[in-house]
Amino acid sequence: MAKTPAKPVRVGRKLGQKVKKTKLKASSRRWIERHINDPYVQRAKTEGFRARAAYKLLEIDEKHQILKGARRIIDLGAAPGSWSQIAAKVTGSTDTEVRVAAIDFLEMARFPA
Ligand SMILES: C[S@@+](CC[C@H](N)C(=O)[O-])C[C@H]1O[C@@H](n2cnc3c(N)ncnc32)[C@H](O)[C@@H]1O
Repeated sequence: MAKTPAKPVRVGRKLGQKVKKTKLKASSRRWIERHINDPYVQRAKTEGFRARAAYKLLEIDEKHQILKGARRIIDLGAAPGSWSQIAAKVTGSTDTEVRVAAIDFLEMARFPA
């Protein structure tokens, strides 16, 4: 499994981008600007994770080894699914041998996707 480097790696689009003034509320525009300029968001995109949250789980696991030896995992509140992606990898889950149950209010794309 990929280790999280101490510093985020700059990839993808340029950072420091602004969002054009539209009908968006200022707070929404600021949120989008923060999101598109977030190095972890860009890194997640490049590395095929569904969300930047993947790096939080990898960091937690690096510190506390919570995934070590896991054979089956239930991911509660799983959407969009970056933790489930890691869970699938750790448990060796496949289409024929499913080892991760991902549950959420929201719809979530099936794996692999
Ligand atoms: C921060 S997101 C999880 C992100 C996810 N760990 C990932 O890596 O992509 C939290 C999710 O929890 C879900 N959620 C919150 N309360 C829930 C509940 N009671 N039942 C099902 N899903 C719930 C939300 O719909 C949301 O998608």
